[in-house]
Amino acid sequence: MRTEAPVAVKLSDYTPYPFEVEQVDLRFDLDPEDTRVRADLKIRRTGDKSAALELDGEALELKSIAIDGTALDKGAYEVTESGLTIASVPDEFTLTTDVKIAPASNTALSGLYMSGGRFCSQCESVGFRRITYYPDRPDVMSSFKVRMTADKETCPVLLSNGTPGESGDAGDGRHFAVWDDPHKKPSYLFALCAGDYDIYRDQFTTMSGKVIDLAIHVDKGDAERAAWAMDSLKRSMKWDEETYGREYDLGVFNIVAVRDFNFGAMENKGLNIFNSAYVLADEASATDADFEAIESIVAHEYFHNWTGNRITCRDWFQLCLKEGLTVFRDQNFSADMRSRPVQRIKDVIRLRARQFAEDAGPLAHSVRPDTYGAIDNLYTATVYEKGAEIIGMLRRMIGEETYRKGMDLYFERHDGQAVTIEDFYACFEKVSGQDFTQFRRWYAQAGTPEVTVEENWKADSNEIEITLRQKTPATPGQPVKQPVPIPLNMALLDEEGNLAEWMTVLEDEEVTLTFDLPDGTERPLVSVNRDFTAPVRLARSLSREDRLQLVRLETDPFNQWDGVQTLAKEEILALAEGSQAEPDADLVDAIATAIEGALGDPAYAALLTRLPDVGEMFLERQPADPVALNKARKKLQKAVAGKLEDLIISVLGQPSPQPFDPGAEQAGTRALRTAFITLLAGSGREDADTHLLKLYEAAPNMTEKLAALRGLAGLEGEARDKALADFEEAWKTNPLVMDKWFSVQAVTADAETVAKLAAHKDFDLRNPNRVRSVVAVFAMQNLSAFHAPDGSGYKVVEEIVRKADKANPSLGARLLTAFEQWRVLEPQARSEAEACLRRLQGSDLSKNSADIVARALG
Ligand code: PHE
Ligand code: ZN
Repeated sequence: MRTEAPVAVKLSDYTPYPFEVEQVDLRFDLDPEDTRVRADLKIRRTGDKSAALELDGEALELKSIAIDGTALDKGAYEVTESGLTIASVPDEFTLTTDVKIAPASNTALSGLYMSGGRFCSQCESVGFRRITYYPDRPDVMSSFKVRMTADKETCPVLLSNGTPGESGDAGDGRHFAVWDDPHKKPSYLFALCAGDYDIYRDQFTTMSGKVIDLAIHVDKGDAERAAWAMDSLKRSMKWDEETYGREYDLGVFNIVAVRDFNFGAMENKGLNIFNSAYVLADEASATDADFEAIESIVAHEYFHNWTGNRITCRDWFQLCLKEGLTVFRDQNFSADMRSRPVQRIKDVIRLRARQFAEDAGPLAHSVRPDTYGAIDNLYTATVYEKGAEIIGMLRRMIGEETYRKGMDLYFERHDGQAVTIEDFYACFEKVSGQDFTQFRRWYAQAGTPEVTVEENWKADSNEIEITLRQKTPATPGQPVKQPVPIPLNMALLDEEGNLAEWMTVLEDEEVTLTFDLPDGTERPLVSVNRDFTAPVRLARSLSREDRLQLVRLETDPFNQWDGVQTLAKEEILALAEGSQAEPDADLVDAIATAIEGALGDPAYAALLTRLPDVGEMFLERQPADPVALNKARKKLQKAVAGKLEDLIISVLGQPSPQPFDPGAEQAGTRALRTAFITLLAGSGREDADTHLLKLYEAAPNMTEKLAALRGLAGLEGEARDKALADFEEAWKTNPLVMDKWFSVQAVTADAETVAKLAAHKDFDLRNPNRVRSVVAVFAMQNLSAFHAPDGSGYKVVEEIVRKADKANPSLGARLLTAFEQWRVLEPQARSEAEACLRRLQGSDLSKNSADIVARALG
């Protein structure tokens, strides 16, 4: 059987819902196999007199339906696979429906499902329709009241949005609880959790003196491991008050951690639900990267309370309105908690790895698309990461103060509403007096703009001319692009530092800037897109000497790091293409010197040791040969490791900081240590494996233990096997740590090893974290093996994804995005990838996956 790609939904088709839902009363009778949901919807007509009442509903068994207490005749309504229609309804009425759902057999993890024997829900974007019949769209906002009953013993804790009300015994070994949410909300923010948890509690006093009860619900025995998440939550609450003047608006704030979850976390009003990977952490079991991710995701979900919940999206095309903005907010929070330049570099690494790749391939789409096939596939790096970059550009262009005024106005004007990108920009136009019509092209045009920089130094007149040109490549469905305003922080550099520093907004296709410099000035170097002010690709034809010089003179930490990246990219390309046999000694020296010069800021120094990933290189030269690129990258890494050998051995000879603290300072020290562990693993030293095994055994924290294990995993031999066996034995009962065990192998595995991992008794197709720890890691971080020219990588992924997709379409589709780069590959891999995509297209896939495959084949 062949699944057709879904029919497109269009932004231009938007029409308001013709009814208002004034009040929603929900009653849940919870049972794993047979949950009953009764909904009383108080509805009032606001549009067309003749409009039928159309409600969404999916996988529901309708038990009864009544209007104002009178059961409807069979002929009065129609039930389909996707909803329920009542042709004729009064102008004001209460609709009562009773449905049956089966949470235990819900493997899609959308709607009400079970995870670890507990009930939990996921409604964004369209999961609520799998709970009850409802206008499941974000512009229908209503007041929700929930009453649930459940077994007392298995479900002592009953949670929903808002504030807890009455609770008590319900007879028959069951009990009940009532929750009331005073804030109107769209259905995608509804949540319900019921089960037995350990609870980590704390309080937060808001700026106006209200005391909020905070609680994080986790698996039995895990409470202490929620301490960092709680700390992050309190810092987030404080930061939003100080930075945006936003206070929390309910008396309680609950977080529930679940092991089975499709994404990172979800911002349900007053009841955030998290993938447990982003809640649980301690020194022994979590890496600094985990601590950092927890801090930023806790913040992200908390910040949604204002940017997403109080003000929500009119329709799903506006998803970036909440996500881009909220990512921008969480990135700034992290920058304030840690180091701003280091944070910026990490954000850009992520943007380039995921978003630039997306923008350059067949899945490219604009930040606010005007059409989509499957809504779940809209949760992309483009919407999130590029969406955040656009807000960053907006802020740079109008300044921090005006930006804050615009945000204040946005909150004031639109609190309680479901709005659009245009509504958002109207606020900034008002406070700045500027027109953002052209700027909003950033939302409409897909593709990463390329900025060409040309310099012309006139020695006799001490003049430098800088010509900037922009061009956005064609993307699917968008052959012709308009220029977008590109804010570029720039500087002229000489031996003394900055000769000049300014921001240019490149509005048109081309601009030439001329600088008259004092007599006797040497040719200055031009520093462009400092701090990565704009999400663009730069094209400059500089000599290696000039590039080396730029790295040496650069005063902007981002650009210094990026200068090293550019040099490394060119070197890897030269090595991969065979125009050079060995890494250039001057270049290796320059990288080593930059690292040595940065040792005072170890987190930054660690980033300087990082070489561009194979995937990033795909953007540089095509067709791309991942196998050759991987080899070339390793060669360069080995040369850098050789150059720094003494430093590496001496740093790793020092003890790790004790007692453990997850904060930025110690994390920086550990980042450098792990960077050096990675270099040691790539050094080619004969004793590398025994040295790594010692480091593995001695490591007092997971950060260094895992780095040593990762290093070992890439080396054949006894030390590797010993460490992997030891790790498995030590952590076999901790699923989050076992995910790491699977990942460190997948990241260096060949297809055969991936098949073995997938056959391991702890590999669980129903658990997204576990599937991702093998398949996503292999397909997205181990590109030379995934894109193996014999097609073995594709075949093993295909087989697992087919199975995963059956149970969980959202997961299946996300894994398939790994194919997005297939067109740029060398001919052999390319034809194997295409054959695989064709096989997939001809088979029975979920709608989500069919959408990805159809677009990938384009
Ligand atoms: N809205 C969530 C976030 O970014 C992401 C999410 C989407 C989670 C859909 C689950 C399902 O914060
Ligand atoms: Zn979000």
